[in-house]
Amino acid sequence: MLSKRGVDIQNATKVTDIGFAKCLADPYNAESNPNGIINAGTSENTISCDIVAEKLVVLNGCGSCLAALSLVLSDPGDEWLTMTPYSPVVKESVEGIPLTDIFYGDLCSQTSGENGKPFQLTVDMLEDALGQATQKDINIRGLFLINPHNPLGDIYSKQLLMDCLHFAKRHGLHVIVDEIYMLSVFDEEAEFTSVLSLEDLPDPDRTHFTWSFSKDFSISGLRCGVIYSWNKEILSAVAGVAYWFALPTVVQVTLNSMLCDEEWVAQTYLPTNRKRLRNAHEIMSKGLTRLGIPHLARSAGLYIWADFRKNFCLLQTGLINTKVATGVYEAEMEMFYELIDAGVYITPGQGFYCKEPGWFRIVFALPRDVQDQVLHRIGTVIEMKRKKSMKPKEIMCNSLLTK
Ligand SMILES: Cc1ncc(COP(=O)(O)O)c(C=O)c1O
Repeated sequence: MLSKRGVDIQNATKVTDIGFAKCLADPYNAESNPNGIINAGTSENTISCDIVAEKLVVLNGCGSCLAALSLVLSDPGDEWLTMTPYSPVVKESVEGIPLTDIFYGDLCSQTSGENGKPFQLTVDMLEDALGQATQKDINIRGLFLINPHNPLGDIYSKQLLMDCLHFAKRHGLHVIVDEIYMLSVFDEEAEFTSVLSLEDLPDPDRTHFTWSFSKDFSISGLRCGVIYSWNKEILSAVAGVAYWFALPTVVQVTLNSMLCDEEWVAQTYLPTNRKRLRNAHEIMSKGLTRLGIPHLARSAGLYIWADFRKNFCLLQTGLINTKVATGVYEAEMEMFYELIDAGVYITPGQGFYCKEPGWFRIVFALPRDVQDQVLHRIGTVIEMKRKKSMKPKEIMCNSLLTK
């Protein structure tokens, strides 16, 4: 019945779908279902939903903006360059309707150089990844940047952003800068440079910006995103496909009246949201530290990128689970299911195409009591794994010591 494409769409099961479906089937509620599964996997802001041009095109969500740009800028078979880990929504948007592909290089957790930090992007890495694509005869149409980054929570320095734009210009590539978390920079010390603020863009005709209300205004369901491009030809091509990505007038009117209240947006909503994110980030970061889970404490976004690899090593040295020896990605999925069984969904790194198994993205934009539960449930799984990995003699000694 279905076309080949329809079958592929039907069969594509993603780890994010599994987690989300589990949460839908048994949703946590502090009063009516306290043993349900907490969704700390979907990047959604649930702590601020109560405060609720000419170079611009408005479509129904940032994902649609990416799809529309990819549709008009690339032909089927062309590919877009980015680095892992990165948001699966970007992949789905670019590969779905436009039928193009993502070609990626991999960031890695090991640091190098004086100012190096884990998962640091460099232009050398982009050059390297582009070189690999060229060797494979792949036509790369452009570069995707997510700033602030999902899932790392990183902000690109102005210098790095400019270096990436120059890299793209050198190779005649388009650049789409997805700034969907641009107003969720909660660290007061952090300096965020939007591509919109640059006066000396290296290649304006090939530079495009996307954003939506989904994250920064806690309204993913309202479906409204924007493309800002310096290239009028591209905007008019996007207008040609906008019919399929249009948003209802009632949504536009509602958002327009919200934005017209500039004072409320600037003086109330944004500072309150940032403060809540800052507090929630601190609580999650401290909680993870207490549990002995290393993580990248960054300045933006709704989530923390956390390193659970130690827990896999425990298993490996304990020789309890032979599965671990055959594949760490399987171990990552095993941990994902153990966490679900304990009542919490967090997203494993493979959901972001991360090359290094063992990393998980934990959403912290949750009310305080729910965050406490998330930490408690993660702690239970870690403790269980730690006990499993101990040799029987060690367990005995430990239980004697704790008596
Ligand atoms: C980086 C990034 N871009 C785009 C999207 C999609 O946004 P929207 O819900 O507005 O389509 C997401 C959603 O998670 C995202 O993380």
